[in-house]
Amino acid sequence: MPSHLTPLHSAAAEAVAAHAGVAASELKVETPPRPEMGDFAVGCFTIAKAKKANPAQVAKEIAAAFQPTELLASATAAGPFVNFRANRAAAFKWLIGAATGGSLLPRTLGAGKTITIDYGSPNISKRLAYHHIRSTTIGHALAQSFRALGYRVVAINFLGDWGTTHGMVLAAYERWGAGAPPTIDLLDQLYKRFRAEVADPEGEGRAWLKRLENGEPEATALWQRFRDVSWAEFEEVYRILDIHYDDLNGEAYFAKQTDAILEKLKDEGLLVESEGAQVVELEEEKAPIVLLSKDGTTLYATRDVAAAIYREERYHPTRSLYVVDRGQSFHFRQLFKLLAKMGFGWASTCQHISFGQVKVGGKKAGSRLGNVVLMRDVFKIAEDEVREVIAQVNPSLPADVRDQVARQVGIGAMIFGNLASQREKDIEFDLDKAVSLDGDSGPYVQYSHARCASILRKANEPVATDVDFGKLASDAEWAVAKRLADFPEIVVRATDNCEPHVICHYLLELAGEFSRWYTAGNGDATLRVLVDDAEVRRARLALVAAVQATLREGLSLLGMAAPDQM
Ligand code: ARG
Repeated sequence: MPSHLTPLHSAAAEAVAAHAGVAASELKVETPPRPEMGDFAVGCFTIAKAKKANPAQVAKEIAAAFQPTELLASATAAGPFVNFRANRAAAFKWLIGAATGGSLLPRTLGAGKTITIDYGSPNISKRLAYHHIRSTTIGHALAQSFRALGYRVVAINFLGDWGTTHGMVLAAYERWGAGAPPTIDLLDQLYKRFRAEVADPEGEGRAWLKRLENGEPEATALWQRFRDVSWAEFEEVYRILDIHYDDLNGEAYFAKQTDAILEKLKDEGLLVESEGAQVVELEEEKAPIVLLSKDGTTLYATRDVAAAIYREERYHPTRSLYVVDRGQSFHFRQLFKLLAKMGFGWASTCQHISFGQVKVGGKKAGSRLGNVVLMRDVFKIAEDEVREVIAQVNPSLPADVRDQVARQVGIGAMIFGNLASQREKDIEFDLDKAVSLDGDSGPYVQYSHARCASILRKANEPVATDVDFGKLASDAEWAVAKRLADFPEIVVRATDNCEPHVICHYLLELAGEFSRWYTAGNGDATLRVLVDDAEVRRARLALVAAVQATLREGLSLLGMAAPDQM
């Protein structure tokens, strides 16, 4: 693994390492607190410690001995840090070349490593509700980000298609369904009625589950129909979001693989009886993990144990991620503890990526979104909102283009709104903020991308990268370049911590920096991108193209489209 994510960062680390007798890979390269201090900072703490010297003194010596390199122009000491100034022309050349030539990201960072990501994973016989959007969007953004860094990603949809609930749905349909076509809405209604009206719904549900687990053909055929209609509905939403799963084995698949596991637990004396059920006691947990009900049917936890073992055996993941709401923290803590107790060293690779709730905030949004619970309808509402916004800012956009853009941006607004805060936080979803073009919103990032595209269209000349980047002489241009240089570290951080929100934040900053540069041209014609001087113009156009490419790539990591006009 390269320890520094761009040649610029490596150059700074190497410049220090050369004088200090430590490996460059051991040195952290940071950004100085203020741009006028320099572009990259390397602290001298560990070096000073090894030499039993004062860090500030060490920094001074290293700065004094510095000789300019291809990428670095100068060095100064600032307390315990050595601050480096980049050779801007060379840095522009590398950044713009990488961004427009493919990607700024280290594309092979994850080579040879596999990440399994369980996300979405809805329950059948129910529509995809609004709250499912978070697991789906966070999981997809993680999948995209890991992929971009060269990891092999296995996207898993662990469908909730087994268990007492589904036994109850069968029982309810058998009782009141009268052979009517089993639509999701009907099944959901019948299930609710069953819970409300039947004396022992759980007991009857388990009895039906037992029939399923015994493989009774009629029960199985009916269950299969329920599963099929549910999947057709889910698939539609995944199509809208452009999500493709690699592994669709859900709970039903694993219900059939639990015997050997239970046998093993019994042999090892871990499985014990408690109130008629079979459980395993876990250290420091209030409750044991229940693996077999008193009727002998499997439970959610049993099927998750089987699924975890399968994932390990089949994919050997470096990390096995479960993107599931915070409400299931206890379940996952128990699950992972049990796996460890079973002697599986890989239990430590399993991680619950939990997230907070979505609340619909804001008065206006509350009245429009308040009662909407279906994911598809939410997208539609966002799309309609965006269509209005676009009609105002760009009335000349042809209607068919406007419709397509409204869909891409409406969905983008929802995705971004769900990703933009730290995942553990509950989010107050405000529709007006989410769809606005000038706030901290997804549409704002998409709009910035479209603006880059429009500048390039207007220039009407091919983007060249073999230009004299010495022509990019303003601090505003350099500020944009430095943001580009941050992109790799941001994506690595997003994947390490499973926090897509850092990418959202980054894209807003890149868009903001681009806007500061671009709008400077409004007051001073010599700062415009499309100036008469051909060399300056070509250099600036190349920088615009690099910003466009990076915004586009960043949006794709979030699962968002990047339309060329808005
Ligand atoms: N089906 C569950 C639900 O809708 C989520 C499943 C999460 N994944 C897992 N391996 N347990 O709440």
